Amino acid sequence: MTRKIAIFDTTLRDGEQSPGASMNTEEKLIIAQQLIRMNVDVIEAGFPISSPGDFRSVQEIGRLAGDSCVVCGLTRAVDKDIDRAAQALKTAKRPRIHTGLGVSPQHIHEKLRLTEDQVVERAIHAVKYAKQYVDDVEFYAEDAGRADQDFLIRVVQAAVNAGATVINIPDTTGYQLPEDFGARIKSLADNVIGIENCTISVHTHNDLGMATALALEGVKNGATQVECTINGLGERAGNTALEEVVMALKMHGDELNAHTDVVTRELTRASRLVSRITGMNVQANKAIVGANAFAHSSGIHQDGVLKARDTYEIIDPADVGAAGSEIVLSARSGHAALRHRLAELGYTFRDDEFDDVYQRFLEIADQKKEVFDEDLESMVQERQREVTAVYTLNALQVTCGDPLVPTATATITDELGVKHVVCSTGTGPVDAAYKAVDEVVAVHGDLQEFAIKAITRGIDAIGEVTVRIEGQDGRIYSGRGADTDIIVSSAKAYVNAINRMITTQRSRDGKEVAVAQE
Ligand code: KIV
Ligand code: ZN
Repeated sequence: MTRKIAIFDTTLRDGEQSPGASMNTEEKLIIAQQLIRMNVDVIEAGFPISSPGDFRSVQEIGRLAGDSCVVCGLTRAVDKDIDRAAQALKTAKRPRIHTGLGVSPQHIHEKLRLTEDQVVERAIHAVKYAKQYVDDVEFYAEDAGRADQDFLIRVVQAAVNAGATVINIPDTTGYQLPEDFGARIKSLADNVIGIENCTISVHTHNDLGMATALALEGVKNGATQVECTINGLGERAGNTALEEVVMALKMHGDELNAHTDVVTRELTRASRLVSRITGMNVQANKAIVGANAFAHSSGIHQDGVLKARDTYEIIDPADVGAAGSEIVLSARSGHAALRHRLAELGYTFRDDEFDDVYQRFLEIADQKKEVFDEDLESMVQERQREVTAVYTLNALQVTCGDPLVPTATATITDELGVKHVVCSTGTGPVDAAYKAVDEVVAVHGDLQEFAIKAITRGIDAIGEVTVRIEGQDGRIYSGRGADTDIIVSSAKAYVNAINRMITTQRSRDGKEVAVAQE
């Protein structure tokens, strides 16, 4: 049997740090459910002291996960952070506190303004302090990729002696070359006494496009945990992509003497879910989960694949859940068929919720002849987004054309249940619709990006719009909307971004400390 490599998912913490990717607790719970279904080993659910929202997410995910995986909360090497994480993790059956501090010259001298001795003392104190609360304490040596190796060995030795169960070696700035990073891991494995009783974890970033290569070098040299995010979401160029690591370990498990327990056929669904919830589109040529990952366009390639799939395909699309839907529902499909298909896709509803779901399905089926899995996923996720709405778009009517003045009439309900009917003109139908929305909502967002794509093929496909708006606080908020009418999708996406901006700002208003983490 090969070595088991634990998959530590940090989509909900490091991934969420991508500009515009912030999620509320309900959205995090939906993603956590999918991570559990995929059988990841650890979910880093948030940074509890950073906001009441993060605190609640860690609490709720701890409750949701039960025995199925470890739930982890991030802290700085600061007592009050650790107290707060411990409080949030009380609901978890398998809690872990992830604590640590910077160990590179840049972090020690410029950010922390400490001496090396002080860094070691703080590392020891933080691990011991966290151990009062939980047995499982992970120590991170932030920016280990640029640290002096002798000093790194010294800090890690101190953390191991203090009782850390997991030692996380991050290449925080994605600076290292894979071979050199691997050598760092090997040198820790060879020189730190007692590290053989701990898990060595690698946490790499993609600034030079090498995050996955760095993580795999870590595994080759002794790491048995990889920290990663769905779609490689994360600060700047992102973190190591979970789907890439998992599939690389599946394809090269024998050479690397390693395997994971992740259910790979859930990877595509996880990717779509995270993309929809965060509003961060996945590039078409993204490895494993991009729209073109299994597309063959040139004649020579198509000919080769038709003769033998493995001529140009190293992965069977079905292995990552990308084989496409075989079951197609229509307006003639009854309650039972819809319920059954949704359950197969992992969505279950109480009876009182299901009627509403079925009505929405019928509306879509009336507009499109065939309803594919992707349509159902979009429909369910759209509904989940509505649950947390501050403003709800009830109706939209737009007239436009040449030489008409584009005019939109929108009906919007606010969170107090007050219905507003507003009318506005604009330079085009989307502009008119957005101006009508602006008349009702109390906040303003500057549109920075607008993208539209068809969810399935055909002229009657559902059009999904993603927008990114900049709030007056200078932050980016994203939103999505889906409908067979693309102007309605556009308006829904804008209202969704506004809702996310308001709920995030409300959650942040109660923030206890302003902190920045990589
Ligand atoms: O990149 C990093 O160093 C981190 C740590 C906080 C683990 O995200
Ligand atoms: Zn990170």
